[in-house]
Amino acid sequence: MRKKIIAGNWKMNLNLSESIELISGIKNGLVNQQLNCELVICPPFTSLETASVLIKDSAIKLGGQNMYYEENGAFTAEISASMLKSVGCQYVILGHSERRTIFGETNELINKKIKKALTSQLTPIFCIGETLEERESGSTFDVVKKQVVEGLSEINSEDAQKIVIAYEPVWAIGTGKTASKEQAEEVHAFIRSLLCELYSNEVAEEITIQYGGSVKPDNAVELLSQPNIDGALVGGACLKADSFIAIGAAC
Ligand code: PGA
Repeated sequence: MRKKIIAGNWKMNLNLSESIELISGIKNGLVNQQLNCELVICPPFTSLETASVLIKDSAIKLGGQNMYYEENGAFTAEISASMLKSVGCQYVILGHSERRTIFGETNELINKKIKKALTSQLTPIFCIGETLEERESGSTFDVVKKQVVEGLSEINSEDAQKIVIAYEPVWAIGTGKTASKEQAEEVHAFIRSLLCELYSNEVAEEITIQYGGSVKPDNAVELLSQPNIDGALVGGACLKADSFIAIGAAC
């Protein structure tokens, strides 16, 4: 059965000492809480190694926010899958909308990164989602379908089951505007039916599909209670230990 996963995308926030403080807060908050989900933190690269040491004796898992698909070489400022592995990462966020829009990442590039993550035993959190303009012009399903089909190109059933998909409508990211539970569930169900078409019903049922975009403690329960929403990718609300844990508790 697919896992519920709550992942915190710290983005370009928190220096090393602030990172230590947040992780301590999360660990303290978990002392008397048994969560019904996997909790993943994705700090900036500069905090990963320290984070990995701090979470060693806890149930918290670690993820990177990006990586490049080459093994090593002259790719200034890039980070490889094996580098992420070497500091204890099990997850990596790929194709986030900020990477797509600000840094020009294409479906083709994201597909290469997903393949590299998979061969490196990192679980990709593969982000997709439409812009406001695309939603308003009625092309949400077409956009999401293209992202899924091209992002998962040449990935077989066995590997597809290891991927986490994060549906994040771009208009809901960092805006305080969350998709309603109906809007989110509609797209999640569509993604699952697409995975069923591309692979099989069994594979589609195994894949965790997270929702992301202004998830907070007060909307997490209704979103996470939808049949096809299997967790959340959280930005702003993951920077406070209590709200991140409250979202975990909503599972
Ligand atoms: P947000 O970000 O929760 O601040 O909207 C989500 C994300 O970008 O993953």
